[in-house]
Amino acid sequence: MINQAKQAKLQFLQSIRIDSTEADVEHKIIIPLLNLLGYQNTDWRAQAVVGQAKIDFLVHPSELEKICSPYLIIEVKAPNKQLNHNCWQIYNYMRQARATLGLLSNGYRFRLLYGIHDQIVTIAEYTQADLLSKFHLFYGLLCKATCLKFGNAILQSQQRLNLKFLALIAEAFDSEEATNLLEKRQNLYPGVQTKATPTTEAKEKRSMIITVFNNKGGVGKTTLTINLAATLAKLGKKVLLIDIDAQANLSTGLGIDPLKDVELAGRKDITHLLIEPKTKLDDVIYRKCWTDQSIQLDVVPSHIRLSKMETELTRLVDSDRILAKKLKNHSYDFILIDPPPSFGKVNGISLMASSGILIPMQLSPYPIRALEYVVTQAQEVGDYKDEPLPILGIIVSMYDQRSTNFNLSMVESIKDILAKTSGGEKVPLFPENTWIPRLNVVSQCPEKGYPIQEAEFDNSLNIQEREAAQKALEKYNNLATHLISIVQRGS
Ligand SMILES: Nc1ncnc2c1ncn2[C@@H]1O[C@H](COP(=O)(O)OP(=O)(O)OP(=O)(O)O)[C@@H](O)[C@H]1O
Ligand SMILES: [Mg+2]
Repeated sequence: MINQAKQAKLQFLQSIRIDSTEADVEHKIIIPLLNLLGYQNTDWRAQAVVGQAKIDFLVHPSELEKICSPYLIIEVKAPNKQLNHNCWQIYNYMRQARATLGLLSNGYRFRLLYGIHDQIVTIAEYTQADLLSKFHLFYGLLCKATCLKFGNAILQSQQRLNLKFLALIAEAFDSEEATNLLEKRQNLYPGVQTKATPTTEAKEKRSMIITVFNNKGGVGKTTLTINLAATLAKLGKKVLLIDIDAQANLSTGLGIDPLKDVELAGRKDITHLLIEPKTKLDDVIYRKCWTDQSIQLDVVPSHIRLSKMETELTRLVDSDRILAKKLKNHSYDFILIDPPPSFGKVNGISLMASSGILIPMQLSPYPIRALEYVVTQAQEVGDYKDEPLPILGIIVSMYDQRSTNFNLSMVESIKDILAKTSGGEKVPLFPENTWIPRLNVVSQCPEKGYPIQEAEFDNSLNIQEREAAQKALEKYNNLATHLISIVQRGS
């Protein structure tokens, strides 16, 4: 099956002959290949002039233009030309453009090169048959998602370096403005050692407890919470997830079985944290790690018995604040809480413990009709709190990418409702690049018990599923980055 799918996708490889021209290879092989790797036409330039070089394809998405030199350049030859006789040119071009990767191809053979400083090395040379059998390797290295990841990593390391330098400047010149900027930025890069450390008070202010809230069922709350948490973790944030829904979808979606891993293992869950005064947050945390070791999530799992505890919870002293009290003095950058859909006691408890709310929303009429009620409910709880409880924004959670006009009309409805309901405080709709499309690969994650990042390591996925996972990852990355910037601005 997988091979057939691959062959279908790479069928364009058969569209050239030995007497085809260089232009044929460009149009019939390279451009379809770039599309397959996830690049849009605006992500590359043909016949790009860099210094003295005229490069056949300079692949450099606009997001990265100001951050780093091009990720990939491609040099094309006619099928009757041998690659060995033509590699000097791409070596030269890679050096001039300071490109990380080079691809030299005559349509039949594909030579991959890596450039570091002035050194160029050959990584692999594929025939068309190799390309078919090892496309996952080729794809993993050259696809747009990897290119963006590489750019982001460069940006982050540059920013860390700038931050260290800022710390030196702040100290040497005793500059108040530089120190203030340093404190604001430091939270983004927790690993960076600088002398001027923020006060504990400032640290607490910047950590966020967020309830992902919408009392309409099935709008994608749990899925969004899991994948957003994993993306925040991937971006270096320390993240805790709290499952406060008796359905325990978040727990099982992360591979924690409430019966086997919690009850039968004699461990504690959210119900113990809420009901037992002596049970502390640390007593109920499960640590989950993934193949990608930069992703580590702490999880407070749930259990079906939570569904029978409404009355018991109501009887507790200061019941609405029980979770808020247990979450004091934590060390997390983000705590994301996943409540049940109905508006009951546990929703109140979650919101009272929170410092912000995110509302996932589908672009379809029924959930949108309920939005006014959701916003009002959230704002009402906020009125009972001493601390502000802002609605950080509305996130589109699973939209159909093909229904452009329909989506536009749904967005207009959302904006109308927000204009009516939010009174003095403006509730923002998150930008379109953060919207999560409806994708099968995302809906498969819960039964596999992993966040979407793990799809990259799942050998059972076919090429289309891998591409879809990359697309989803890009969106979750935009979403997490946007959320971090909101929190930074608010602090
Ligand atoms: N981006 C997506 N693409 C495809 N399917 C999705 C996506 N997000 C969520 N789903 C699927 O939609 C269904 C509902 O999602 P989810 O359980 O996250 O919603 P929920 O709001 O938490 O539901 P509940 O109200 O029951 O807690 C699930 O089957 C999930 O796999
Ligand atoms: Mg849910």
